[in-house]
Amino acid sequence: MTKHEIIVGNSNNVTTIANSSINLIVTSPPYPMIEMWDQMFADQNPQIAYDLQSGDGMAAFNKMHIILDEIWDECDRVLADNGFVCINIGDATRTTNDSFQLFSNHTKIINKFLSMGYSVLPDIHWRKQSNAPNKFMGSGMYPAGAYVTYEHEYILVFRKGRKRVFEGEGKELRQKSAFFWEERNVWFSDLWEIKGTSQIIAAPKASRERSAAFPFEIPYRLVNMYSAEGDTVLDPFAGLGTTTLACMAANRNSHGVEIDSEIADLAMKNIAAECEYLNQVIETRISNHLTFISRLSEDKKAKCYTNVPHGFPVKTRQETAIKIDKIKSVAFNKSIIICQYE
Ligand SMILES: C[S@@+](CC[C@H](N)C(=O)[O-])C[C@H]1O[C@@H](n2cnc3c(N)ncnc32)[C@H](O)[C@@H]1O
Repeated sequence: MTKHEIIVGNSNNVTTIANSSINLIVTSPPYPMIEMWDQMFADQNPQIAYDLQSGDGMAAFNKMHIILDEIWDECDRVLADNGFVCINIGDATRTTNDSFQLFSNHTKIINKFLSMGYSVLPDIHWRKQSNAPNKFMGSGMYPAGAYVTYEHEYILVFRKGRKRVFEGEGKELRQKSAFFWEERNVWFSDLWEIKGTSQIIAAPKASRERSAAFPFEIPYRLVNMYSAEGDTVLDPFAGLGTTTLACMAANRNSHGVEIDSEIADLAMKNIAAECEYLNQVIETRISNHLTFISRLSEDKKAKCYTNVPHGFPVKTRQETAIKIDKIKSVAFNKSIIICQYE
């Protein structure tokens, strides 16, 4: 069984979540200096609207990060030692006071986590290629005035304290939560090319645009990579609850915090509508594995091990205990969701 909750409130002070009770944070905050989030930041500090109006982009940028920093402090309070933090963030390009520049959000966030004593781990570039003909900006074909088009976002990865050690029951849960060899090769590469549209799970376009939801595949990979069954995951910027859905599919507990009560309502509706596809995600994961095995040469097939719970071949001994549970039922009680597995 797993338990999930969508909490309405400001994630800079989540009193219902106990100290050191979270194993992994997977999130995507509003991006400072991206226009769609100006109002949201200004609502939390009206001085930001004044800075933007008066053309002081750098002052607005710094104040937006002060808002995020308070939330990273609260994340630090609830995160257990050895826990991980995965943050999807894009940098912003913007002209303020007639001057174009990059506002490097990922640099600010890395500096904040360094100041809190976290280890910075290798990050992932999520490449979102645009084929729009007008994607190049600046001075056309003339030198020294054009700038590179940004088509990637970052997934920053931080660790609190030292490497996590698994003992006793935790060791078994870790083995059960292993990923397939071929998944490891893709997931642990530093470049992810994931399109929003090719997902089994994709919230309706209008609500996606309003909340800037990330594709399901992003939190699903991260939850599988940086936590084990039995763990609890937090998304302090829950939006439409994509991280919650990923946790339900991956058999992890979760909390999502969302400041906008309308978006939190949409999240509960989105989770209710999309959870019927979660078993499809699980089935696709298994069928992709079987296709991978079927394409191995006879020589390589002969060297495979047998996965005990599912009875299918796997490449390595570490995959022999993987057990991917399908969801049997999902029950909703106000803001709480309970998932039972087969
Ligand atoms: C980029 S969106 C997250 C989208 C989410 N990953 C998804 O897939 O739907 C950021 C969300 O954070 C929320 N938010 C902004 N400031 C917040 C705060 N201080 N506390 C909690 N939520 C906040 C916004 O309302 C928005 O829904």
